[in-house]
Amino acid sequence: MRPAGMNKYYTGIFLIMMLIYVFYNKEIYTEKSDYDNFRLSEKALKGERLWLENNCNACHQLYGLGGYLGPDLTNVTSNAGKSSEYLKVMMISGVRSMPKFEFSPLQQDQILQFLKEVDKTGYYPNKKAVVNYSGWVQYQKKVINEK
Ligand code: HEC
Repeated sequence: MRPAGMNKYYTGIFLIMMLIYVFYNKEIYTEKSDYDNFRLSEKALKGERLWLENNCNACHQLYGLGGYLGPDLTNVTSNAGKSSEYLKVMMISGVRSMPKFEFSPLQQDQILQFLKEVDKTGYYPNKKAVVNYSGWVQYQKKVINEK
């Protein structure tokens, strides 16, 4: 048997914990992220669709996620050694394990646009990320949707 008054005590603690829980969730889920105003353009959305339909992600990664047969393509469009022409030719020529796709010039442009806009969102790997003692990671960002 609990002493009289104990139930109220537990109810109080329970309510306080519920309040903390609700407040904490509200903070997390309503926080404005840096990416709120990031939208792919129409053209890039078409490229993304081609990217998904053709399973490019089975071999390539964006931000390290995907298959590992081919290279990560997050920042491939800002690689000075790799021109747009080169990247488009890679999509349709079939080099070693990279399959040959039958994309029209328009489709090549759309995929390239998708990769360019992904590239604008950040760096991968993010070599300049700093892990603070608090556990938070400060990472280097790119300017998003600059126009
Ligand atoms: C079966 C695995 C596979 C699939 C699927 C695949 N790729 Fe590749 N891709 C590769 C490999 C492997 C390479 C590296 C080729 C080489 O240089 O030897 C590559 C290279 C590339 C490159 C050049 C990257 C660079 O840094 O030189 C681009 C661009 C590319 N792929 C785009 C795509 C796109 C777009 C798709 C989907 C339409 C796709 N790939 C689907 C395996 C794949």
